[in-house]
Amino acid sequence: MGTAAERHEARLLRASQPGLWALLAVSRAGWFGPVRRAPRLGWLVTDAVLSRKVLNDHEHFTLLGEGGVGHLWQQVLGDYVLRIFDGPGHADLRQRGRDLFTEANSAALVERVAGPVVDAATARLAAGEAVDVAETARTVVGRMMADLLGLRMPAQAPDEAFREVFQTGERLAALALGSAASTELAPRVVAEAKEIIAKLTRDVPEAFATAPATTLLGRCREAGLSLEETRGLASLLLVAGTETAASAMARTVALLHDTGTQHALLADPSLSVAAVREGLRVSTPAPMIGRHVSADVEIGGRRLRAGERVLLLTHTANNTGGPFDLTRPYDPATRQLWFGGGRHLCLGAPVARAEVGRLLAGVTAAGRPFRVVERRYARKVLIPSYASLRIALT
Ligand code: HEM
Repeated sequence: MGTAAERHEARLLRASQPGLWALLAVSRAGWFGPVRRAPRLGWLVTDAVLSRKVLNDHEHFTLLGEGGVGHLWQQVLGDYVLRIFDGPGHADLRQRGRDLFTEANSAALVERVAGPVVDAATARLAAGEAVDVAETARTVVGRMMADLLGLRMPAQAPDEAFREVFQTGERLAALALGSAASTELAPRVVAEAKEIIAKLTRDVPEAFATAPATTLLGRCREAGLSLEETRGLASLLLVAGTETAASAMARTVALLHDTGTQHALLADPSLSVAAVREGLRVSTPAPMIGRHVSADVEIGGRRLRAGERVLLLTHTANNTGGPFDLTRPYDPATRQLWFGGGRHLCLGAPVARAEVGRLLAGVTAAGRPFRVVERRYARKVLIPSYASLRIALT
């Protein structure tokens, strides 16, 4: 039945997305090899090197068209997505936006926005209280999103107000549930998604015009992005960076506990980089990546035809390397497949790493081990995660 860490991760996947859990379990057992065609889903790829090959091959695969996330966005945001989400327009946008999230500005952003929330949690732990780190993660991410989207909310507003921002982003992502089989959205879903985006990006135009270059929207302006491009990017941040980041934060804390490796981290805080990397690898919060086949191509000895769809089961590919292990070196086969690859490699990767790292620093700050007091898995959510993970110092 595997180790405690593997059992909890499997239960979490099953509670959040039963169908996905079954698919990942079967693919991990090696039942269908590196590339296989499945009814309704299209081609499934489970191998890390082949997955990266697909992500780097922009001549034969696109995220515009049935099966890719750009197809979802085109229906919600409009046809300009076709210009800026793939092809030369996207390459140009990524080039101009390459400094939006650097290691340095992401660490500073996370410290400014998330630092006080995590410090408050650390103080409660030190006072002997139990802290729900899944909730702390949602507060952190809600505050990050409000900051990035230039939402006019006072920093001293209660945490619940920011968790509401998180929940609204979560609702937007939930609208994509079911897109594993088709990325064609019903008109009702498109209307609801448009309403959520209008609400959450309401302050973008004003912040884009006036915000200083120390903010994301100010940096977008200085980098020469148009308001339309900035609004598109802001919407994308919401879907790509809310649940994924919160999921990674809580699950990495749980993995450190369930594998007992928190003791090694407490003894040597420099292992934090490895803990963040392993947490992201093992949890792979975005467990699969979809693409549309735009031209016939051969992958892993199989012939894929234009118009078909591919699902890269990155969760399986990343976990083939073995269990959570702080001594595991960087793996050149996987690289950082949990953030995708090629031109669409996660733009917010430095932010996500800094968020996970900051939470780990907070739970280990007292220099004492922690225990899990209670945990609940989230049910029927797009990104598998903990609904609650209450920990206390031993
Ligand atoms: C642990 C947290 C995260 C994970 C696992 C993750 C994962 C990913 C993956 C797999 C992709 C590629 C999707 C594809 O190729 O179809 C992606 C793209 C993206 N992510 Fe993240 N992400 C995370 C956090 C964030 C955060 C915090 C932000 C922003 C603050 C962000 C912004 C983006 C954007 C803008 C893209 C689209 C890039 C493009 O298409 O050029 N992500 N992310």
